[in-house]
Parts: sequence; C-alpha cells; structure tokens
Amino acid sequence: MKKFLLFVLALTIVFSAYTVAFAAKKIGISMPTQSLERWNRDGEYLKAQFDQAGYETQLTYSDNKNDQQVNDIDNMISWGADLLIVAAIDGDGLNTAMDRAAEAGIPVIAYDRLIGNDAVTYYISFDNYTVGVLQGKFIEAALGLKNADGKVFNIEFTAGDPADNNAGYFFRGGFDTLKPYIDSGVLKVISGQTAFQQVATAQWSTDTALARAQNILGSYYADGTILHAWLANNDSTAAGVTQALDSDYAGDNAVIVTGQDGDIANLANIVDGKQTMTVYKNVANEAVVTLEVSKALLNGEVKGEELVKSFPVECAYDTTSYFTSPGHYTPSFLLVPTVVTKDNLDYLVDTGLYVKGEDGYLKAK
Ligand code: GAL
Repeated sequence: MKKFLLFVLALTIVFSAYTVAFAAKKIGISMPTQSLERWNRDGEYLKAQFDQAGYETQLTYSDNKNDQQVNDIDNMISWGADLLIVAAIDGDGLNTAMDRAAEAGIPVIAYDRLIGNDAVTYYISFDNYTVGVLQGKFIEAALGLKNADGKVFNIEFTAGDPADNNAGYFFRGGFDTLKPYIDSGVLKVISGQTAFQQVATAQWSTDTALARAQNILGSYYADGTILHAWLANNDSTAAGVTQALDSDYAGDNAVIVTGQDGDIANLANIVDGKQTMTVYKNVANEAVVTLEVSKALLNGEVKGEELVKSFPVECAYDTTSYFTSPGHYTPSFLLVPTVVTKDNLDYLVDTGLYVKGEDGYLKAK
C-alpha cells in the first residue's frame, strides 16, 4: 500500500512538472484604438497568429486613452503575462507600466510604434522614414518636379499625432524629400505651415484633419489659387483632406493626395480618384514577424540577422536607427512598405487579404 501511495505521489509530481513546463505561455496584446481601421486588423491577425501557435492571449484596445492603456497593461502583468506586445497611444506615456513590466522580468515588444522606455526588448515595425519618403517621391514624380521648367506648384502638408513616435518619421521622410523643391521655389506652401507641430493631427483624427484643411482652403485658396498636392501622412487624415477638398476647394483640378495604410474607405477613394495613393503596410506580415520574434524570445535567444533570413517576408534587422533613451538602441525588425495606386490595386488582391467586388471596389476578406 505504502509503495502504491509513493507511486501515485511520484506520478503526481511528474504530471505537475509536465503541466508547468508545457502550460501555454501568456501573451498580452495591447492595441491603441478600434476607431482606426488598421488596428482592428493588427489585433485580429496578432491574436490569430498566437492562438494558432498554442499561446494564451489577451487582446485589449484602449480607446486612444493613455491612462486606459497603462491600466490595460497593468492588468496583463497581474494576469501573469510572459510577454507584452504593445502599440502605444503615447510613446512617452507608458513609463509606469513599462517599469512594472521590467520589475516583473516581462519582455516587451514595441509593436509598430516605439515606446520611449528602456524596458522595450524589441521593436517591430515598417521602415517609418521610408513611408514618408515614398509619399514625397510620389508627389515629386506626379508633378514632374525634377523637370519643372519654370513651373511652380502649390502643396500643403498634414502629419500625424505628435504623441505617436512614428509621426515625426513619416513627416520628415516626406518633407526632407520635397524640401529642395521648396527651397528652390518650385514648390510653394501657401499657408506657410511647414513645421511638424503646425501640421500635426492629434490622434490622427479625420475630423481634426478635415477642420484644418477646410480652414486652409478657406483662408488661402478661396480666391481660385490652384492647389496641386496635399501630402497627408496616413489614410485617416487623408480622409479629412479629401472631404475638405470635396466641400471647400474652389478649383476643379484633381489634387494629388497621399495616404498610408490601405484602409477600405481610402481604397474606394483611390478608385474614385479622390485620393491618389496610399503606402500599404501588410500588417498580416507584421503579425507573422511578431510571432517569430516572440517564439525566439520566449525560447531564450533572438539571433536577429539569422532570424530575418528565415522570414517568409522581406524584413531588415536594424540596431542603429531607433533608441529608447540617448545611446540605448533598440534592436528593430523593419518590414518594407509598398506604394498602391489605382494602377496596382491588384497587388492588394494578390496578398489574399482583399477581394475586388464587381463594382471595382476592394473589400477586406
Ligand atoms: C501610425 C501607424 C500608421 C497609422 C497611424 C494611425 O503609428 O504606423 O500606420 O495607422 O499610426 O493609426
């Protein structure tokens, strides 16, 4: 009997050790808001990737409220998260939550937007500066700025949320590309608003972008002055700009409008000729890369250079571009964005994530 009890005890010990060793690791996924289309896709893809790989997940959206995001992350830490994946609302607003994560020894992946705290273990995003460069170069080519032959073109700028670490990169990428033409007088910004803080849009809000665009059109273009291009750094702000052009622009030329993300409403505007391009970032691939980095991280070792070679998508491993505090560089995995216009909308269909309806508009699958 004693032997039997010992045997049962031994079995129980072995079984509990097995359960502990193989208990699913917990992944906390904190997204900023559901009010912008892309984050819904990010949340959905990330959760699906991790669930399918056998992890336990918790996904939250914080309604673009920093305090709520701090709270959501705190709850994930208390839940016993083994890894946090965070797309920050305010890159400088998460210090208390990040410090708690560091104290608890929980690694953090800054997803898409970098967080200004050294607790960040890895950064996974697209090459943000390049996004802006692609928008600037698109305008350069569309207006033929390289061979302007004495012609002068008018342009306005709309940037993103100053609390979002990406917004400055997008703006600088676009502005740096076009600055030589502004300096030489080929491009004019009639409103005079060329500083990031002047053109920024809190929370990337469509309504805020709309109100500012209406104001500019009313103040500087109501006399029939022609506007040739509006560089908007993403789709939610481009939506505000195109609405303002519809309602408040006196000219009848098609103004070139840029964007970013490939949101469904903006893709429809591209088909209709109201928006000219979007910089598409395949967030399903961003989720794949995030899963692969997370697996390596949870297994103890991330060999960045080797890892990127194994990815099914193009991705750079970068250790010198992004830092969380002076001198503290964050190893980063940067995917490659693509320009989408009316002419290559099928590129999106080919990703398998969109379908084209009989009406010619794209829908998410
Ligand atoms: C940025 C992101 C963009 C865009 C924007 C608004 O951080 O990289 O793709 O979605 O936020 O949500």
